[in-house]
Amino acid sequence: MRTAPDRIVICSGFAHALRLLSGTRALRHQAAVEAYGLDFHRSLLAAAGIRTVPLPLDEDGARTEELAARRDLRGVRTVLLTPAHQFPTGGPLHPERRATAVAWARASGGLIVEDDYDGEFRYDRRPVGAVQGLDPDRVLYAGSVSKSLSPALRLGWMVLPDALVDQVPAAKGEREGWASALDQLTLADFLESGGYDRHVRLMRQRYRRRRDQLVAALAERAPHIRVSGIAGGLHAVLTLPPGTERSAVRAAASRGLALDGPAGYRHPDATGPAHDGLVVGYATPPDHAFAKALDALCRALPPGENPR
Ligand SMILES: Cc1ncc(COP(=O)(O)O)c(C=O)c1O
Repeated sequence: MRTAPDRIVICSGFAHALRLLSGTRALRHQAAVEAYGLDFHRSLLAAAGIRTVPLPLDEDGARTEELAARRDLRGVRTVLLTPAHQFPTGGPLHPERRATAVAWARASGGLIVEDDYDGEFRYDRRPVGAVQGLDPDRVLYAGSVSKSLSPALRLGWMVLPDALVDQVPAAKGEREGWASALDQLTLADFLESGGYDRHVRLMRQRYRRRRDQLVAALAERAPHIRVSGIAGGLHAVLTLPPGTERSAVRAAASRGLALDGPAGYRHPDATGPAHDGLVVGYATPPDHAFAKALDALCRALPPGENPR
C-alpha cells in the first residue's frame, strides 16, 4: 500500500466506512458491487439512496472489464470490490482484472473501494498486494479488525485518495461519535508493542489447522463435495449438487450450525447461473467445539452416490 498518515482515517469497521462514504460525493446515486456479497452492505447503501448494480463473478473474480463496456454501468463512478478474497466465493481478483478496474477508474474519474476484511489470513500463497498500491488516487482501501480481533470491537481504517481527504472527516463531523478513543489507543498500543503481529501469526496457524481439518474431514466423509476458496480467510465454499442448498442449510441449522448458501449473498438483480453451495465459516466455534461442529457439518451434507 502507498500512503501517508494524514490519509488514514479510523472508523468503526467497514460498515461505518460505507456510511461515511455515502455522505460524500464519492458515492453518488449508484455503485457497482460484486454479484455476491453481504446483503447488509447493499441495504446500507440502499438506505442512503444509492442503487447497487451487480458485476458478475467467475474464477478470476469480478468481471471488471464490464465497468467500461456495459451501457447500464455508464453512470457508475464507484465500484466496491473484495480483491484479496472475494466474499463469499473466496478467490483473489486476477491481476488483469485489477489492472482493468484501475484503468476504468482513471479513464472515468471513478473510485474503487477496496474492502480488505481478512487480508491478514493467507495460508497457501504469498500475500496479494492491495489494489490501492496500483493507484492511491483512484482506490480507497478499507481494513477492519473484525476478522483479526473481533467484530465486537467496531474498529477499522480507511486509506483515502487525495480527493477525499477533506470530505470523509467532514462526513464524520466535528465530534467523534463512533470509534471510541480508548479503543483506538488500546489498539495503537497493541500494534506498537508487537502484540497484534504476534496475535495474527498465532491465529493464522490456528485457522490454517482448522481449514486443514475441514478439508480432511470432507475428503474422508464427503468426497463428492468440492471445497474452494481455501487459500486464505476464515471461510470456505462447498459446492453442492443442484437443488440441495436449501435442505443442507436447514439440516445444518437443525444440528446447531448457522450456515448460509451462496443464494443468501446473491444480489437480487444478478444474472448468470446460481450454484448450490454452503459458505462455511470455520473461525467461530471454540476449540473444544470444533470437532463436533465438523461432524455436524458432514452429517448435514447431501449424500453422494456411494455414501460412506
Ligand atoms: C465482505 C466483508 N466486508 C467487511 C467485513 C468487515 O465489516 P466490519 O468491519 O463492518 O465488521 C466483513 C466481515 O467481517 C465482510 O464479510
